[in-house]
Parts: sequence; C-alpha cells; structure tokens
Amino acid sequence: MDTIEKALSKHRQAAQAELENDSVKGEALEQTSEIDQRAHESVVGVDASQFDKSRAQGDKTINSLEIDIDALDRMGAILPDDSRSKIKEEYKHIKRPLLQKAMARMDSDSPDNLIMVTSAYSGEGKTFSSLNLALSIAVERDCRVLLIDADVVKPGLGRTLNVEDKPGLVEYLNGEVESLSEVLLTTNINNLTVLPAGKTHHLSHELLASNSMRELAKELASRYRDRIIIFDSPPVLITSEAKVLSDVVGQIALVVEQDKTAQQSVKDALEKLDNAKISGLILNKSHTLGAGYYGYYYSD
Ligand SMILES: Nc1ncnc2c1ncn2[C@@H]1O[C@H](COP(=O)(O)OP(=O)(O)O)[C@@H](O)[C@H]1O
Ligand SMILES: [Mg+2]
Repeated sequence: MDTIEKALSKHRQAAQAELENDSVKGEALEQTSEIDQRAHESVVGVDASQFDKSRAQGDKTINSLEIDIDALDRMGAILPDDSRSKIKEEYKHIKRPLLQKAMARMDSDSPDNLIMVTSAYSGEGKTFSSLNLALSIAVERDCRVLLIDADVVKPGLGRTLNVEDKPGLVEYLNGEVESLSEVLLTTNINNLTVLPAGKTHHLSHELLASNSMRELAKELASRYRDRIIIFDSPPVLITSEAKVLSDVVGQIALVVEQDKTAQQSVKDALEKLDNAKISGLILNKSHTLGAGYYGYYYSD
C-alpha cells in the first residue's frame, strides 16, 4: 500500500473508530491536554533573561490586529467561543501529533516547534489549514502561537486577515525594519500573534533562502521555544520557495485536498520534501463522515 492509500485507509479506520468508541477518544484527548498543560507550563517558565540581544531583540509587539470574528465565522473557521465543535474536534486530531513532536524537543535549538503547512498546488487549503491549526492551538489549549504568512508570492493570510498592506516577513528579511517586534501583530485572539507576509517581492526566493531567514528560524526555535510557529507556506510543485522554507522548519504538514489533489502530485510533493520532517498529511475537504469538511491527520 502506498502512502496515500495508507493515509486514506487510516482515515477510514480513524473515522470508524471515532464513531464507535467515544471513550477511547476521551482518553486520547486527555493526553493532548497533558501535552498542552506542559506547553503552558513552559510558557510560564520562560525567563526573559534567556532571550539574546540580537537584531530581533524586544519581545513586545508594537502593533495589534483586530481579527474579524464574523469573517472567521463566514469562512467556517474555528471560533474563540464554544461553537463549531465539529471543526474543533477535527483539529484536535490534526494538532495532537504536531504538538507532541514540538513538545518532545530535548534540545532547545531543535526546530520542531516550527511547522510548515504546504501542499502540492494552490487552492488546496494551506491557508485555511494553517489558520485553523493556529486557532485550534491558541484558542483551546492555552498555548502561544505565532502564525507566519510565508507564502510571500501569494499571501493568503493577508487577504483572509485583512493585513495585506502591513509590513511583515519580507521587510524583516530585507532589513527594512530594525526588529521583529515592529512587524509582529498581537491579536484579539488570546495567545495568537501574526506575522504578515509584507510586500510581494520579486526576490522572494532569495529572501527565504537568505541567511536572515536561517537566523530568524534559529531565533524562533530557541528564543520562542515555548511557542508553536506555523508557516502558511507556498505550494511545493510550482514554487522553489517551499523547498527553501522546508530546510529551516522541523515539521511539515502536507495538505491534500480530497477529490482534487492527484495521487501523483502528492507523491511528487513528498519526493521534493525531506520525508523525515513530514509529520503527516491533512486530508482537507473530506466528505467521509458525511456533510461538511473533515480534516484528517496521518502520521507514521
Ligand atoms: N476545509 C475547508 N472548509 C471550507 N473552506 C475551505 C476549506 N479549505 C479551503 N477552503 C477555502 O478554499 C479556498 C482555497 O483555500 P486556501 O486555504 O486559500 O488554499 P491555499 O492556501 O492552498 O491556496 C479558500 O476560499 C478557503 O477559505
Ligand atoms: Mg494560501
């Protein structure tokens, strides 16, 4: 059985098991709570003196962003209140292995808290999945999340969160701003900080491949080690930026759109990425459980 067939087969089994066995699910969710509790403890335990005095000095963000909750609602995304339990449940399963790996880091320099969300092509749900993953972790588990719009060629989060005109990753990597804090946006959603893509740049590939990007990734892994950093990333098969970005993250989640992403495209995408970093596939817009969308996470 190949990877996708295995993923689909696991998906069906998981869906079946979920329907049949609520108590097992309850246990699994409790485990997630423990992981998240540890995450929370590590947030509380971080000492400001550990932060280095590099270019990105200054943890305080200067700017804030009011995320339009009604827009999230219209999009079908996770909401900060208690509604939308179905998608929240789905993302519990998606985030669990990612959090597990991120929290299991023994070495504070490990980039396993840097998670790249990508897919073979555009329109398969990278932005939707990154945003919901970030919301799921921030809203439900009291864990700090930094959501980065790293699709500097076609910034989807910019449009979704209405921050298209804000400076962001590009300006930071270009050296146009002094510190990261100038481009980070705290939001009205507790624990969620956003880094917009910034201006589209004709040298985006070079920027992502630059030493500044490597330094930033290192900094995010160590200085922000209590946080989960999610990169909404360019698609693997039509940009060279995705491959470059995949080199600096610790985990990759590949979004596969059911009935749209061809099996061969998934295989081609997997071949281009470091398989050791692929923590799983997110099967987006699956209809297996009936009406609506269903995300599934496969990890092996
Ligand atoms: N699971 C989903 N449920 C509802 N809408 C979705 C889902 N996944 C994607 N979409 C919508 O499909 C469109 C394309 O998704 P997007 O995340 O922007 O793709 P990408 O970032 O891969 O280009 C967007 O309008 C998005 O809101
Ligand atoms: Mg996108």
